[in-house]
Amino acid sequence: MIICFINQKGGSGKTSLSINVASTLARLGYSVLLIDADRQASSSAWVSLREETAFQVVSMARPNFAKDAKQMALKYDFTIIDGPPHAEEISRSCIAAADLVLIPIEPSGLSIWASEMTIRQVQEVSEYKDIRAAFVISRKISRTIIGRQIYGMSEGYGPPVLTSHVHQRVAFAECLTLGKSIHEYEPRGLAAVEIQQLTNEILNLIETNFPIES
Ligand SMILES: Nc1ncnc2c1ncn2[C@@H]1O[C@H](COP(=O)(O)OP(=O)(O)O)[C@@H](O)[C@H]1O
Ligand SMILES: [Mg+2]
Repeated sequence: MIICFINQKGGSGKTSLSINVASTLARLGYSVLLIDADRQASSSAWVSLREETAFQVVSMARPNFAKDAKQMALKYDFTIIDGPPHAEEISRSCIAAADLVLIPIEPSGLSIWASEMTIRQVQEVSEYKDIRAAFVISRKISRTIIGRQIYGMSEGYGPPVLTSHVHQRVAFAECLTLGKSIHEYEPRGLAAVEIQQLTNEILNLIETNFPIES
């Protein structure tokens, strides 16, 4: 199962979610590979701060890597792809390799527009390949309501929105900087709970064979 976090918009939370969902899956006992498909190599930088990690991290930021990624993924229960900023050749490969495409998005209309190329790329790839896609609301500011337009996306042109979402929390920023997972950084914090819930929702989608429409 290959899951890719992708959005042309930088700073939407691709790397944070990739690392923390990979950590959660590894804690559950799954074998996990994280493919860093970003030339800026944030996931690789994170892993370089650590002595050991419960999952494998490889850098593969080049066009047309989908076939190689799928080949490598055969040896693991889960492969997570941390996608690049910009909608480019590499991001098309990420989408082409993935069984499940998750698009982290901040809860505002502006954020949807900034992701338009990514959404179009997902639609293009889905014309020749059976992929599932969903938005994940990321960096939600406490007490702001999530606009109707975000949930309405699924009714229009876009993929559905997952129920679990992740707030803007200092813990997420700090654990990336320190080379820790959210479970290591603050095991009993709300950020860890959010990541656990997101991972559960992903596992549930896979187990029930993606009942959401995309
Ligand atoms: N939920 C969050 N709460 C607080 N900071 C976040 C959150 N998600 C990401 N960040 C911070 O924002 C910056 C960009 O996030 P990152 O995950 O690297 O995004 P992307 O990979 O999409 O560019 C990083 O400094 C990261 O620590
Ligand atoms: Mg990144």
